[in-house]
Amino acid sequence: MTKAEQLQTVTILVPGDFNDHAIDRINHTFRRVTVERADPSLVTDEMRSNVRGIASFAGINAAMMDALPNLELIASFGVGYDSVDVGHAAAKNIMVTNTPDVLTEEVADTAIGLLINTVRDLPRAETWLRDGSWVRKGNYPLSRLTLRGRNVGIFGMGRIGQAIARRLEAFGLPVAYHNRRHVEGLSYQYHPTLKGLAEAVDTLISVAPGGASTEKAVNAEILSALGANGIFVNIGRGSTVDEAALAAALANGTIAAAGLDVFADEPNVPKALLDAPNTSLLPHVGSASDHTRRAMADLCVDNLVSWFTERRPLTPVPETVSVKARG
Ligand code: NAP
Ligand code: 8YV
Repeated sequence: MTKAEQLQTVTILVPGDFNDHAIDRINHTFRRVTVERADPSLVTDEMRSNVRGIASFAGINAAMMDALPNLELIASFGVGYDSVDVGHAAAKNIMVTNTPDVLTEEVADTAIGLLINTVRDLPRAETWLRDGSWVRKGNYPLSRLTLRGRNVGIFGMGRIGQAIARRLEAFGLPVAYHNRRHVEGLSYQYHPTLKGLAEAVDTLISVAPGGASTEKAVNAEILSALGANGIFVNIGRGSTVDEAALAAALANGTIAAAGLDVFADEPNVPKALLDAPNTSLLPHVGSASDHTRRAMADLCVDNLVSWFTERRPLTPVPETVSVKARG
C-alpha cells in the first residue's frame, strides 16, 4: 500500500460543526466519520473500534477519550485548548495538537480594532449615520474617551500579546505586562502580579488562556485597581473574567468601558453586558477571516497527516509533548 492508501484507512472523527476546508482535506486524505457533538453516548461500536484521530472545534473531555480506546491524536482547531482535557490525554498517551502562530497577527489586529471601538465608540457612531440620526440630529456626540495618553497593560504576553504590543508601540503608547514569568528579551515593564499591572495602567488587555490558573482572574479587585478611567479589553477567554463583577464595575463607574470578543458561556452573553452603554461586543471573531481560518485548518489537518505518516506532530501542546506514537 502507498502512504496515501494507508491514510485512507485511518478513521478520523469530526464532532459537530467544522471548518469546510478542513473537512475537504480530511475527506480527501482520511476516512471521516461524524457525530452531532462530542458526546460519548453518540459513539457507535464501529467508531469505538476504528477511530484513531479527532479533529475538532469543540472541547473533548475525559469521557469522550475513554469512549474511543484506539484514539491516538486530538487535533484541536484553535490555539487555545482549555476545552480539551489535556491532563487526561497525557495520562492515556493521547497526543493533542493546536494551531499556534498562524492566527497571531489576525487576532492582534482584531484586538486593536476592538480597543479602538471601545474607546472611540465607533460602532454606535456608524449606527448614528445608518439610522439617519446624522441627518435628523446633527453630529455624533464627541467620545468621552481617547487612546491618547493611555498606558496599556497586557495580561498574557505570549505570541498574540507580543503582536498586540508591537502595534501599540506604533501608536505611541507605553506597554507593560503580567505573565507568571518574565519574558527574556522584552523591554516592556514586567509586573509579577495582575493586581500590580492593573494599578500601574489605565487600559488592560487580556489575551491569557483559559483554564484553572486564570479562572475569573479579572475580578472586582482587579477592576477597582484599573480605576475610573479604566478600559478593559478581552480577546483571550471569557472564563478569565468574573462577568458579574465586570457588569457591576461598568454600571457603577469603577471602570469606564469594556470591549469583549469572548464570554464565559458562548454564545450566551449576560444581559447586563448587552445592555450596558459602555461595552463594545464581538461574537468571538478574533481569528475569523477566510485567510486565517484556512491557515488554521491546514495546520490542524497537517498535524493529522504528520502523525499518521511520520508518527510525530507538528504543533503538540506542551502537556502532551512527550506522548509517544503507538506501534
Ligand atoms: P501563548 O503564546 O501561549 O501566550 C499565553 C501567555 O499567557 C503566555 O505568555 C503565558 O505566560 C501567559 N499565561 C498563561 N497562564 C497564565 C497565568 N495563569 N497567569 C498569568 N499569565 C499566564 O498563547 P497565544 O498564542 O498568545 O494565545 C493566547 C490565548 O488567546 C489563547 O490561549 C486563546 O485562549 C486566546 N485566543 C483567542 C482568540 C479569539 O478569537 N478571541 C483567538 C486566538 C487565541 P506564562 O506561562 O509565563 O504565565
Ligand atoms: C477560534 C480561538 O475562534 O484559537 C483560538 O483559541 O479562540 C479562535 O481562534 C476557535 O478556536 C475556533 O474554534
